[in-house]
Amino acid sequence: MSIESPALRRIQPSQTIAVSAKARELKRQGRDVISLGAGEPDFDTPDNIKEAAIKAIRDGKTKYTDPDGMIELKEAVVGKFKRENGLDYKTSQIHIAPGGKPVIYNALVATLAPGDEVVIPAPYWVSYPDMVLLAGGEPRFVETTAADGFKLKPEALEAAITPKTKWLILNSPSNPTGAAYSAAELAALGAVLKRHPQVWILTDDMYEHLLYDGFEFATMAQVNPELYDRTLTMNGVSKAYAMTGWRIGYAGGPEPLIKAMGKMISQTTSNACSIAQWAAVEALNGTQGFIPERAQAFEKRRDLVVSMLNQAKGLHCPKPEGAFYVYPSCEGLIGKRAPSGKVLENDEAVVTELLEGEGVAVVHGAAFGLSPFFRISYATSTEVLEDACARIQRFCAAVD
Ligand SMILES: Cc1ncc(COP(=O)(O)O)c(C=O)c1O
Repeated sequence: MSIESPALRRIQPSQTIAVSAKARELKRQGRDVISLGAGEPDFDTPDNIKEAAIKAIRDGKTKYTDPDGMIELKEAVVGKFKRENGLDYKTSQIHIAPGGKPVIYNALVATLAPGDEVVIPAPYWVSYPDMVLLAGGEPRFVETTAADGFKLKPEALEAAITPKTKWLILNSPSNPTGAAYSAAELAALGAVLKRHPQVWILTDDMYEHLLYDGFEFATMAQVNPELYDRTLTMNGVSKAYAMTGWRIGYAGGPEPLIKAMGKMISQTTSNACSIAQWAAVEALNGTQGFIPERAQAFEKRRDLVVSMLNQAKGLHCPKPEGAFYVYPSCEGLIGKRAPSGKVLENDEAVVTELLEGEGVAVVHGAAFGLSPFFRISYATSTEVLEDACARIQRFCAAVD
């Protein structure tokens, strides 16, 4: 008999975390491995943010805060939403949790009844389906295509909605594809959603500040004010401020939803670390100058990776609008033989052989719900990316 609960048996361990763990293990064994699996910026947390945390410790800000976040951070989040997104929230409409991930989980657990459906465009961030399943809901996937820029089309959204649909989860810019929705595209999706008042919208804006070629960020509640009362605008400091380890995520939404999420967090994790919350106050209120500088560095890396991958035999790599991922198709390799002699039956076989043969760790598309692709995180130095892409080119050239 398994120790696992029925709810836990419905889910898988995170496959992106598994890839990083496998790469680390191979490195420990002395192998020369480049890991392009992790979804975190290689930059350090800026000094002003670190200093704010040190000051918080010195000032004794080391006690419990309100379970769903301290008022100072809620005020900073209200300021951020107003300044950057033109969205008006009161502090009673803000939820703070230990990371963006728990914000999403709290929203789902607080609202889903058994059998409720959640529309998730594929490819998706690995955690959405499993969080929905844990919360008792049913993920309803809508596949997108590379030809459509991996973006959900209004017709496909319309077709996926049923009377049981509770949420649409929309992530822009996207992990794993880097695709971002323009204001016009969000307006078109909004027109569909307005016809279905039972559907709530969870927008995951984690990669808001990582957009290239002048692409302008837009979010659902801003573009479609009529949907404000059923939209949870979720974001966090992890990616924009290089604070993945600090664990602070936040969201703005209608008061009844935020109250329900507050009830949930009060009986589970309670507040995010008080010191990290003070650091996040400084992140949101302090200087923002390094954000576009870092985005420029990411843009250069994106261009390098896209160009080198498109020179690899059998790969095709679209150029995404944002985030720090690319999602190349490996269709041209499927059915062929790897240098080891193994047949590349699917994208999982491709990434396994790439890791074994050339020591490059990437994540297969099946983990994100759309094959045959793989995801590369380019949140690492140009030198490492050049080396990794040269190895990928060598691997592809040797596939027969
Ligand atoms: C799309 C997306 N949403 C949410 C998160 C979670 O962020 P956090 O590290 O703050 O929990 C991630 C992290 O990888 C992500 O890629």
